[in-house]
Amino acid sequence: MDKDLNGAAWRALCPASEVPAACGKRVEVDGWEPLAVFRLGDEYRVTVDTCSHGNASLCEGEVSNGEVECPFHAGRFDIRTGAVTAFPAQEPICVYEAELRDGMVYARLE
Ligand code: FES
Repeated sequence: MDKDLNGAAWRALCPASEVPAACGKRVEVDGWEPLAVFRLGDEYRVTVDTCSHGNASLCEGEVSNGEVECPFHAGRFDIRTGAVTAFPAQEPICVYEAELRDGMVYARLE
């Protein structure tokens, strides 16, 4: 774990090569709810894995145009902001700052 100047914790989540293009990769980090790592072109984004509408894993949803579609009821979220883009989801999901370092995806968890 690395700390930046503000004391925030950067955690290594997974190798970038393990993140599929069409869906997410679920990652478990001690002390945190399950996370989802998504690939958007050359960038990586990290969100919570559990849908805000129910107990669905967003990693199992389809990703297109920067959005993930929940596999349960087809609610959609913008992966970059966490904003809801399709009903029945109504609450946004948490997103975390992410970086690629030496082939590993890191997230700033605080
Ligand atoms: S559980 Fe995700 S939209 Fe219902």
